[in-house]
Amino acid sequence: MKSSTSLAKLIRPLVATAFALSLVALPGTGYCAESPSLTVSHLRCEGLDTPKVVDTTAPRFSWRLDSTARGVQQTAYQLRVTELGADGKTVGAPQESARVASDQSQWVELPGFVAKPKARYQWQVRVWDNQKNDSDWSPAVNFETSLLGGAWEADWLSDGMVVARMATTGGKGIRKKVGAAKSAPPARNFRKEFKLPNAPVRAKLYLSAFGVVEPWVNGQKVTEDLFIPGWPDYSKRNFYVAYDVTKQLQTGPNAVGLVLGEGWYSSTLILGKQYGPTPMVSGWLEIVDQAGKTTVVATDSSWQWANGPILENGIYPGETFDARRDDAGWSKAAGCAWTWQPVKVEAKPKVPMIARYSPPARRIQEMKPVSRKEIRPGVFIYDMGQNMVGWVRLKAQAAAGQQIKIRFTEMLAPDGSLYTKNLRSAKATALYIAKGDGVETWEPRFSYFGFRYVEISGVTAPADDAITGVVVHANLPRIGQFECSNPMLNKLYSNTLWGQKGNFVEVPTDCPQRDERMGWTGDAQVFCNTANYNMACGPFYRQWMASVRDGYLDRGGYGSVAPGANMFKVGAAGWADVGVIVPWMTWVHTGDRRILEDNFATIQKWIALLEQQAPDGIRRMDIKTGYGDWLAPGSPSNQGSTPYPLLATAYYAQSTRLAAEIATVLGKPDIAARYCELLEKIKTAFRKEFIKDDGQITSDEQTAYLLALDFDLVQPELRSKMIANLARTIAAKDNHLATGFLGTPLIAPVLSDVGLSDLAYKVVLQETYPGWLYSVKNGATTVWERWDSWTPEKGFSKGDNAAMNSFNHYAYGAVVGWFYDTIAGLKPDVSAPGWKHFEISPTPGGKLTHAKASLETAYGIASSDWRIVDGRFELAVKIPPNTQARVSLPAATIESITEAGSDLGELREASGLRAENGRVSFNLTSGTYQFAVKPAGKK
Ligand code: BGC
Repeated sequence: MKSSTSLAKLIRPLVATAFALSLVALPGTGYCAESPSLTVSHLRCEGLDTPKVVDTTAPRFSWRLDSTARGVQQTAYQLRVTELGADGKTVGAPQESARVASDQSQWVELPGFVAKPKARYQWQVRVWDNQKNDSDWSPAVNFETSLLGGAWEADWLSDGMVVARMATTGGKGIRKKVGAAKSAPPARNFRKEFKLPNAPVRAKLYLSAFGVVEPWVNGQKVTEDLFIPGWPDYSKRNFYVAYDVTKQLQTGPNAVGLVLGEGWYSSTLILGKQYGPTPMVSGWLEIVDQAGKTTVVATDSSWQWANGPILENGIYPGETFDARRDDAGWSKAAGCAWTWQPVKVEAKPKVPMIARYSPPARRIQEMKPVSRKEIRPGVFIYDMGQNMVGWVRLKAQAAAGQQIKIRFTEMLAPDGSLYTKNLRSAKATALYIAKGDGVETWEPRFSYFGFRYVEISGVTAPADDAITGVVVHANLPRIGQFECSNPMLNKLYSNTLWGQKGNFVEVPTDCPQRDERMGWTGDAQVFCNTANYNMACGPFYRQWMASVRDGYLDRGGYGSVAPGANMFKVGAAGWADVGVIVPWMTWVHTGDRRILEDNFATIQKWIALLEQQAPDGIRRMDIKTGYGDWLAPGSPSNQGSTPYPLLATAYYAQSTRLAAEIATVLGKPDIAARYCELLEKIKTAFRKEFIKDDGQITSDEQTAYLLALDFDLVQPELRSKMIANLARTIAAKDNHLATGFLGTPLIAPVLSDVGLSDLAYKVVLQETYPGWLYSVKNGATTVWERWDSWTPEKGFSKGDNAAMNSFNHYAYGAVVGWFYDTIAGLKPDVSAPGWKHFEISPTPGGKLTHAKASLETAYGIASSDWRIVDGRFELAVKIPPNTQARVSLPAATIESITEAGSDLGELREASGLRAENGRVSFNLTSGTYQFAVKPAGKK
């Protein structure tokens, strides 16, 4: 039986560090005739290539070993950290570790090093390997620290106005409108002039806002980062950012300008939510000159504000820009003739200020439209060819005052006009009022849109290049790639990746287009495994988990959205469990144990609360407290047909199991043992309540079987009967799924895990409703919220469903985790997290003749690339230096496998060879290998 990465299978009996220890003990193979050189690269501090500021006194360092040799393991390292002065010159002696005998090259602390606040350092590392090589000291890489909890030293400024809430959907039923304002408020520009007697050697801008802010210095934009400082749970914390602005400052007169937009703070969000009605900005420039003298220019009552060219801005409504009012002088010392007014200094917010950790959103990619149609005189619709998130850059020539309206939708109505029903109250419009000054270009930046189609009106003959799509999302490195011989699966992979891009603007959202765009926790937990394959999501999830914790309510547990405590149900099964699942899954992929440390105290509260709610082990909750198997097809309500107490108890067990795992990793065996005991109690209760003697579950539907099998809740003696029952419920649907948000992510992994990969392929490859490829066949370029969001027979979902019908909902894209870990077979190993040890265990099927996944792990590229050539299975693999893998191939005997033409048995880098159940598996050290399996009967 082959195992796959369903969530439960990323869990092992509590063995967290066993593998890492065995790696250290490996003997050096030392057989290379010529000693290849060893270098270190990809130096990271706190898991980031270029962290803005590091928010810990004990930063962790990571590096890669570069070597072309096989079997490379680090045997020792030495770290060095040196403090730098404002002028960049070293201060004092470096702090060095001893030569530490260890294979650890990720998340390494320098013992005894305690970073100072607002300080600059450089660090270096050198390493030794098991092949008698040692590297030189790496080039030095800089990092800087945050305020490290120190005081926020500037006033909070506003324009003194109150932003009225806008009409948005909410209340009972999604059609009721709340709020009254018909238009969004203008952004405000703040400015301050100051003089510097001499040139700075170092200048840093510390900046925060309740709202979003774009900083300018002397007419230059300070950063390409967008929507800073981000979207925290404002009731519990706020973020700040820091930028180096040394080069933008000059001797003599200078000016700093800050454009303050609503962002998520004062924009009206779903249900009329508004964190606060008056956005505020705060920050300071800390400028050091050659003589070491520090000048601080902080926000205070001497600043001024004015309305600039942004007449309207807001997350759901969009942006209006009057180019006639634009004046580059506003952030220059020369100034401009706007109506500048004194600022209002607001009361100091009581929440702590935390340095932002996750890379903010940026413009990541540009798209050219694929077609343009004039649907009515003067109304043009562009098709971007891809449902995307961000905005467009407009290039147009128009008379002064001419209004060019840009509207965004995901779909077109049957008559070819924009389909806006599923946007609900989101106006999603950008309006540009031209300056009348030749060819003008403009793009919004205080709102974002989810769209494939763009309508432009107000410009008589837009040029072919009038718009360029600008894709905006969190600036996380893309690390995973997948492709195979089935173009429809490749399209589904691409659709899922686009879903991740579009829903990773600032927090993991359900959808990016309608008046919602919230950090729905159920969606996030089911997609977390896939997301971690596609992009380096560690900082993103670690930062967002602070909002998840901030939203925890003692009366009910974790929320359904984060940030945004209290907005929706609390403690909902499969949503609330995000508090345990996302830290665990992210740790498995990244090896960053701080995400476990950060969250463990709240996890303990959660388990205690569940225990209280379920005295007999069954969480007997009413469906009203959750969402069920949300949007499962064929059930009259949106909540599917899985009984809610079953769902809730299954997730209670899963949270408890993961809590036990986390306790073990964190070195708390007593707590782990208690949770293991509790888990047994829940399992016993679950079996008694829901599982019949013949392995049937009372509800007899797919999701119930999937949960029971995946979360290991079945009596061992009934397991095979339950598998048969699962297969029967799938056959009853003509090998289609009948699952919603909670069942769907499990179906392919569980089927593979129980030895039914052929059936998994059948379900995944269904092109008819309900199934993943149904939307692909119907032209989807992202993953839809519903299996039938649009059908050729019925068109768009009707009634209430029409309003809740996103064409960019990543939840069902969770299946892509199975593409990586089962089709291609690249799977992390929880006993050596962060890809220190992993599996390469491809599972061909579904008539595929080829599949490949590659992953840029923290250690380097890991890949699995298989094809079937004349009936022969071939597998090329890459295992990065300082890691190892357990490789498994579909082959009957060890003798049937060759590597680069020689018998596998002769391969020095392979050990622990085993042939069982039609597969051959073995341990393999780092390097690049080419395996081939002779077809049965061939010599
Ligand atoms: C969201 C979902 C979310 C759900 C909860 C919807 O409005 O779009 O993705 O998980 O509510 O049932």
